[in-house]
Amino acid sequence: MSNLNYQEKIPNNVDLSNDLSLQRALEHWQPKFKSWWNDMGPDGFQSYDVYLRTAVSVDAAGWASYGKVKMPEYRWGIFLADQVKDKKIHFGDNIGKPVWQQVPGDYRSVLRRLIVTQGDTEPASVEQQRMLGKTCPSLFDLRNLFQVNVEEGRHLWAMVYLLHAYFGRDGREEAESLLERNSGDQDNPRILGTFNEPISDWVSFFMFTYFTDRDGKYQLKSLAESSFDPLARTCQFMLTEEAHHMQVGESGITRMIERTLEKMKELKTDSVDNIRNAGAVDLVTIQKYINFWFSSSLDLFGSEISTNAATAFANGLKGRPDEFRYNDHSEKNTLFDIEAFENGKLINKKVPMRNAMNEITRQAYVDDCNIGIKRWNRLIKKYGYEEYSLALPSTKFRRNIGVWANLSINPKGEFINQDIYNRKLASWLPSENDKKFINSLMIQELDPSKTASWITKPRRGINNQEIDYSYVDLN
Ligand SMILES: [Fe+2]
Ligand SMILES: [Fe+2]
Repeated sequence: MSNLNYQEKIPNNVDLSNDLSLQRALEHWQPKFKSWWNDMGPDGFQSYDVYLRTAVSVDAAGWASYGKVKMPEYRWGIFLADQVKDKKIHFGDNIGKPVWQQVPGDYRSVLRRLIVTQGDTEPASVEQQRMLGKTCPSLFDLRNLFQVNVEEGRHLWAMVYLLHAYFGRDGREEAESLLERNSGDQDNPRILGTFNEPISDWVSFFMFTYFTDRDGKYQLKSLAESSFDPLARTCQFMLTEEAHHMQVGESGITRMIERTLEKMKELKTDSVDNIRNAGAVDLVTIQKYINFWFSSSLDLFGSEISTNAATAFANGLKGRPDEFRYNDHSEKNTLFDIEAFENGKLINKKVPMRNAMNEITRQAYVDDCNIGIKRWNRLIKKYGYEEYSLALPSTKFRRNIGVWANLSINPKGEFINQDIYNRKLASWLPSENDKKFINSLMIQELDPSKTASWITKPRRGINNQEIDYSYVDLN
């Protein structure tokens, strides 16, 4: 197991000090990253000590240490999972050949694009979340926000390392651009749609970490299979960190629903107004936030039927999440059943399996999203509300990319008249009024023993600390 070297300016386990030109190039990028962090990172909390975890090993067990650190002094570094000796390509057309330690010339631009697209999402989410500290429901949540933020910063480092180390001058230019695009910027936005959506309240933050970070998990899982070994090893370690982000989302949504159910029970009501007046978020509104973030995240997987996806699989650049689960790793002449909409008609057809890789990944993602939904519905039942449930909208609802893009389909997945769709769409998503209400709940709570009205206290503290431990020192 390789230990992480924290003696150097850039912590790493890639033997950076033995590659002076690479080290110099990254040390040149480092102050630009720091100034981006200061300008675009968490607003207003940069000078406080935050209880954060930092990677100390890439071993799955005990890989992080915890301690108080000011965010700008966080030790962002370059950590790859350990190399497996004699590793062979395990899917696509080149099964059995050695994995690549360098980028094959033919795949250079496609690989660079994959890395840039992944890399772009990392700082984007930090930018999207930068104002949330001002409305944190507790110090515990504030710390979790910052933990997610510094790790997204580290994920940017992970991708920038690959660009610098393997893509020469193009890579260095792409690394600069990753700090120049900004989420929501009119002229120079982030690459993918969801990463330009504002995250201006904590309900959106929890939904984003549940749904959109989970998209990240599935993208990373696909890239962790890559025949380009440095990319695979980079993504394998990123997945270890990523799990926490989704955990923040799931537990945040659970605690919000718990408070709602407590209020429903206490007041013996399901009236939206009464629940809202009691300072909790009604289930109808929670469903709307699910509809918004889930449907937006689905587009990140790309078109259901895609020749790009087929080529990336055939060439061994991007596999399926958990490729080991499948029996056939070549899928050369196999077919996949897919629903599509052609000539105004809903049809079922067979497409080459390789062309359906985006859809296969998306379906694995949807199954994963449903785990939380089931848990939340169990919680609702536990409180005695048999008649209520939350649900994922249909994967055909509100899509902008692929087979279902721009069609009049309701959250149940039914085609409806376009006028009715246009009229009803707003009612399926958070309205201005809903957002106003949510914002009215977003009152900053900095007393370590308190939690905002709309969410229950967490069950457990972080790293065995008390729940009301001072996770961020404000003086
Ligand atoms: Fe990330
Ligand atoms: Fe993440």
